[in-house]
Amino acid sequence: MSPRTIIQPSRLSRGVRRWAQARHFSDRRVIFSGIQPTGTPHLGNYIGAIHRWVRLQDEPGEVSDLIYSVVDLHAITMPISPEVLRRHRREAMASLLAAGIDPDRSTLFYQSAIPAHSELMWILACRASTGYLSRMTQWKSKLSVASSTTLFDEDVRSSLKLGLFSYPVLQAADILLYRATHVPVGDDQRQHLEFARECVSNFNSTYGKHLVSPTTLSSPELRVMSLQNPAQKMSKSDKSHWSRILITDTPEEINKKVMGAVTDSENYVSYDPAARPGVSNLLRLLSYFDSGSRTPEQLAAELSSENAGLGVLKQSVSESIIAAMSGIRERYLQLLAEDGGGFIDHVAREGARKAQLRADETMAIVREAVGL
Ligand code: TRP
Repeated sequence: MSPRTIIQPSRLSRGVRRWAQARHFSDRRVIFSGIQPTGTPHLGNYIGAIHRWVRLQDEPGEVSDLIYSVVDLHAITMPISPEVLRRHRREAMASLLAAGIDPDRSTLFYQSAIPAHSELMWILACRASTGYLSRMTQWKSKLSVASSTTLFDEDVRSSLKLGLFSYPVLQAADILLYRATHVPVGDDQRQHLEFARECVSNFNSTYGKHLVSPTTLSSPELRVMSLQNPAQKMSKSDKSHWSRILITDTPEEINKKVMGAVTDSENYVSYDPAARPGVSNLLRLLSYFDSGSRTPEQLAAELSSENAGLGVLKQSVSESIIAAMSGIRERYLQLLAEDGGGFIDHVAREGARKAQLRADETMAIVREAVGL
């Protein structure tokens, strides 16, 4: 649906109508995405979200509005101390800036700075089905219970908090508040995007066609696997710090971790994700950072034609990561240290100011439509 169609002038009061027409909703793409503040990002976070957001700034052709949020309200759906949350929010903001998010081209803000996220969530919640939410997977994986678990389970009912259960409603509000047309997310978020579209149709069929249905922007995004157990995604919760590369790692640390990556005992290069997950993970990383944009298969063919062993592969991967991450570590540490993080706060304030304008537009329409 085009953003234009969200306004049904006849159903809005004259004041809101005039003002909405003056603002005139254009056909620009509006891209929204959110990242949870989980501490210093690792390579998986960098490739899956941060770097992708940066690249959207440079996409030729279509002009898009880019709106990126550090979703701190989502972070409290799981226990987290105020001190840790405070630090993690800042670190998330610093990592986005260090990686190249440009506040002149993107709107960057903390979710909690815009109370309308919670307000819209409430309005959406009044139409959201608990049956639908109970079938979603994230609350089950956060509680570490089987995916077949239902709300009939007494233990689950007592440990499942309303906030975690309604996490997808808040996520839908994040997106719909900015009338986002496209949402870049990883595959694990598909279900949440489907639910957001469900919220749009619930709202629009009740109150008129006011909200925009967002499209999932999937990309051949790379799933970065643990360097110690290539069957698992790279994760901050893995006990071994050898399993992940952090954006704060020095070139020496990156090199040590890559050279120590678990592969297998065959000392030749081939791309075979099922049989050789460790080697394949390294080849995908090399391909991701490869300026010649060769596929993992092509890289494997080239390396094996040179009779290269796994040491050579690892050395190339290490060099490509170090080159790609160059400068990020320094900028990140500087942003956090300089002026007590003053620049980060300044960017977040400015971003919130811009986000607020757009949120106000949507909420005027939504409140009017609902009769508030
Ligand atoms: N749930 C997302 C994640 O864990 C984060 C998120 C919250 C988000 N709100 C969003 C992503 C809105 C895209 C759009 O990665």
